[in-house]
Amino acid sequence: MNATRRDLLTATTGLIAASAVANIITDVPTAKAQGVHIRRDVATMTATDDTIVAYKDAITKMHSMWPDTDKRSWEGQAHIHQDYCPHSNWFFLPWHRAYLYYFEQLIRELSGYEEFALPYWNWTTDTQIPPTFWGADNPLDPAKWDDPDPNIGSGPTRLATQMTTMPATAVAQSVIDDILSETDFQQFGSYKASSQRPVTAPFGSSGELEQTPHNAVHGEIGGHMGFFLSPLDPIFWMHHGNIDRLWAKWNSLGNANSDDPDWLNYNFDDNFVDPAGSLQSKTVAETLDTEQLGYIYDNVGTTPAGLVASKPPSALIAQATAKFSAANIIDTEVNSVTTLPVTVSATPAIPADIKTLDRNLLTAGGRRVLAILSDITPPVDDIDIRVRVFINCSYLTPQTSTNDPHYVTTLAFFVSRHQMGGESMIRKIAFSVDLTETLTRLNRLNLNPAGVIDVQLVSVVTEGRNPDDAAFRVGNVEIVYA
Ligand code: C2O
Repeated sequence: MNATRRDLLTATTGLIAASAVANIITDVPTAKAQGVHIRRDVATMTATDDTIVAYKDAITKMHSMWPDTDKRSWEGQAHIHQDYCPHSNWFFLPWHRAYLYYFEQLIRELSGYEEFALPYWNWTTDTQIPPTFWGADNPLDPAKWDDPDPNIGSGPTRLATQMTTMPATAVAQSVIDDILSETDFQQFGSYKASSQRPVTAPFGSSGELEQTPHNAVHGEIGGHMGFFLSPLDPIFWMHHGNIDRLWAKWNSLGNANSDDPDWLNYNFDDNFVDPAGSLQSKTVAETLDTEQLGYIYDNVGTTPAGLVASKPPSALIAQATAKFSAANIIDTEVNSVTTLPVTVSATPAIPADIKTLDRNLLTAGGRRVLAILSDITPPVDDIDIRVRVFINCSYLTPQTSTNDPHYVTTLAFFVSRHQMGGESMIRKIAFSVDLTETLTRLNRLNLNPAGVIDVQLVSVVTEGRNPDDAAFRVGNVEIVYA
């Protein structure tokens, strides 16, 4: 940690609250003098920006290293993701941070552009794939390369067009603000699992950053981006730059990561490759400080010292098992609604403070109500649908607005199955949904007099898709009061 630079940032940014203001850190020469690279918004870069030029150059060189087994080739990098990337669990954020860290070094080395820092794509402010990433002969457009990907066969390398906007239910400012207001690391950044791809309990669950914007953007783009070889699309790296930025931002707002040694000491053993071609490892603890990794974001303040990890939710007040299948309904191409028959009896009743306090007061005290949807059999065509979650809505239809007071959130699937070489292996996935805000709103509006919770799901087909099989099943729903 460099005291001088940190002091400068503190002086520039003032208090933590100021980090909500965009583009605080503009002093590039100082950062450079400290050996720290500044990751910037790709929307500020034209096609002739040095960073974009360097990125194109490196991608072209990486394709010339292909095909071979060199992990530094374009294919090799994507295979690292396919072989190791953790999803739907708490290794999601640190693993992808380390993956980006080595990729950024590789681009710097191959392009010879020493100032290269990986740009991020802020899909909240720029909802379409940046114009610099399109064009038949553009190295940033996967159509130029048409890299072999058994997942998509001869299909298009992106299902999204230049006009496609990322879904507001996943990327709108209000959605992101809501995610950033989570105080518990696991609900924010996904839940405890025994390993990167667990085969024994705990199996983990995705948290809000992963299950909403992360997954939805993958699915909305489609093509390579819908599968484990998604890094074949150059936009993958900018998408994850933004996910990584939001994690850094969440910390800068005063939220602590988990202090569980099972997480901190976990080693991503030989998962990565450095510019010399040597395999590299990182522990989770080694990923937590971006300055130590040599980069910061242009609009994220520094993380305050001495954060104390919040207590993960643990008190199970009720559990119900439910089956949900959207089969036959999706085939009609009409969006469907299915109510999970999850009725949590009023014993024990929803605690009084949940009924009366607002969400900010509740989360300040760490009080929350979560619905954990697990034992999920995902749909085959997982990226073709999104799932809206409501609670206790007596008049719910597929047309019910996401502005309705009973609305909770929208979930998306991502690589629910390994679909390599015709094989289809279901992954263990779970979603963890924070009901607190909706529940307190309903109670304030006197819409939940019975004090019970019915979890309701609406399956919505992504615009322009025609899924053959979008049926899925939720095996278990738990309501957790923390
Ligand atoms: Cu491991 Cu967004 O992918």
